Order: sequence, then structure tokens, then C-alpha cells
Amino acid sequence: MSRLALVTDETSLPIDYDMALLLDACRAAGLVAEVCDWEDPAVDWSGFDAVLLRSPWSYVDRLPAFLTWCERVAAVTDLHNPLPVVRWSLDKLYMADLAARAVPVVPSTFVRSGGDPSEAVRQFLDGHREAAEFVVKPTVGAYSKNVQRFSRSRAADAAAHVAQLHSEGLVALLQPYLESVDRDGETDLIYFGGVYSHAIRKSPMLMPDGTVNVPTFESRTPRTAEDDERAVASAALAAAGAQLGLDRPLVYARVDVIRSADGAPVVLELELCEPSLNLPFSDHGPTRFAEAIADRLGISAR
Ligand SMILES: Nc1ncnc2c1ncn2[C@@H]1O[C@H](COP(=O)(O)OP(=O)(O)O)[C@@H](O)[C@H]1O
Ligand SMILES: [Mg+2]
Repeated sequence: MSRLALVTDETSLPIDYDMALLLDACRAAGLVAEVCDWEDPAVDWSGFDAVLLRSPWSYVDRLPAFLTWCERVAAVTDLHNPLPVVRWSLDKLYMADLAARAVPVVPSTFVRSGGDPSEAVRQFLDGHREAAEFVVKPTVGAYSKNVQRFSRSRAADAAAHVAQLHSEGLVALLQPYLESVDRDGETDLIYFGGVYSHAIRKSPMLMPDGTVNVPTFESRTPRTAEDDERAVASAALAAAGAQLGLDRPLVYARVDVIRSADGAPVVLELELCEPSLNLPFSDHGPTRFAEAIADRLGISAR
């Protein structure tokens, strides 16, 4: 009988809305799944046939420790998604890899420490005269942490934010603010075993007054992804697979897309480490996920 670990942590489990549905679906598919805390030193990870990262979200402030833990687990059992995928997808520098593979992405400028942040912001604004507003965020981050929206007139504040990110050892990512999000939100598309399952609409997180929201249950509603959004998301996953030399589709993946001023969808973010998969918003999502897991473990789902 295969054993599966679904990885979370104490503080995140209460806000993991997928877990209960996933556990039920695993049971129905004949999988023995256990909820485990990545920070619990008593867990013997080698005793599992597969370990799935689900909601170990306490890692955001402890990234080196989390990656060391991932390495340890990957050395003794199957980690999903695999370690190279986790490493690559945790740093939004991957946007450059996607762009190089002709995937439409939010135009992204990376600013590393060393130069003058004010000059970097000025150059970015010169290169994006169409952008009434822009975003400064770290390349490594989650939950809108350190993500800020600025009007063009606030270049000095934006430069100060870039400098702040650099002082924390982070690389800054500058993007035009894509205004469609204020009206239409973003579309987050969920895939299991490389096959599209469902999508949600996520409300905008960056308010005009500077307030930054974190994604909550209430900020999501079910949405049917349009064909052009699915095409872009599928292209992004294919590019990720080619970039990393993967021989099989990922058991789970989320691609967040947003529409640019011309109406075309572009990738805002790839979520390949520990994404919320928005199972409460899809009747068939939990079963599809459990079946993709069973398939990967070589068990025929009932
Ligand atoms: N270029 C952008 N245009 C419009 N909204 C953005 C942009 N970048 C980020 N946002 C908003 O900020 C939120 C968080 O940014 P995101 O890039 O998804 O980082 P995180 O990794 O923190 O989720 C998004 O869900 C979106 O609402
Ligand atoms: Mg996001």
C-alpha cells in the first residue's frame, strides 16, 4: 500500500482550504494520505512513497531552511513537485526564461543591487511610457509581501523600495501595472498531471491608495478560463518543462494570468512549489488531483 505525505505546517493548515477535500479524494482513490508538518523533526520522510508540498507556507520567512529540508526529503523519497522545479519557480527570475521561450509574460525588468535605484527606475519609466502606474516587488516572495504599486510621479518612493529590497538581499522586479486587473481580476489556472482542470478569478491585491491585500478565500470566485488564457498557461508549463528538462508533466501546477492593455493574456506568475489549488471552487478538481497523484505513484485510481 503506497503512503503519501501531504506537507503543511501548524500555522498554515487552518488556512489550507484544499486539504480536507484532497484527503477525501485521496481516500476515494485508494491512496493512504497523511497530513505532515515539514517542521516536525519526528517525521520519517523515507517512510513515504511520495511527499507532496501542499501548504508549508511558514517557509516564506525561512527559505534556506525550507530548501535544505526539501533536499533532505528528495534524497530519500519522491518529492512533488521535484526539487529543481521548486528551486526554479521560487524566484521570479524565471520570467526571463519564459520570455526567452516566447511565452507572453508581464514585461519584467530585474534590478540587482549595485547600481543606483533611482537611475534604474528612471530607465524603466523611460522604457514604459505607456505605463501610468508600475509595480515594484521582490523576485522571491509570496502573498503580495513587499509588492507595491506606484504612480509615475512617485519614482522616488519606488526607488526607495528598490533600495529596501536590496538591503534585504533581494532582487527587485519592476513591471507596468496592468490595469485590467482592477476590472477583471487575474485568472489562476490549475493543472493536474499536465491537464487543465479548473480556474478561479482572484480580485486585485494592490489598491490605488497603497493598501496591499493578501489573497483570502473571499478574494476568489470560480471562473471559466478563456481559450487564449489556457493557451498561454499551457505554453508556460511546456516552457517550464523544456527549461528544466522534465520528462513528465507536473502532478500539480498553477499559472496566474492577467490581460495586458491590448487584451492579450500574459503570465503574471507560475506557482509550482506549494500553490493553493482552489479545490473548493471546482466539483471535479479534488478527484482529478487525487487521480493524477495515483497515476504518478503507479496505482490505478478507483
Ligand atoms: N504588474 C502587475 N499588474 C497588476 N497587478 C499586479 C502586478 N504585479 C502584481 N500585481 C498584483 O499583486 C498581487 C501579488 O503579486 P504577484 O506577482 O502575484 O506576487 P506574489 O508572489 O506575492 O503572489 C497579484 O495577485 C496582483 O493582484
Ligand atoms: Mg501571486
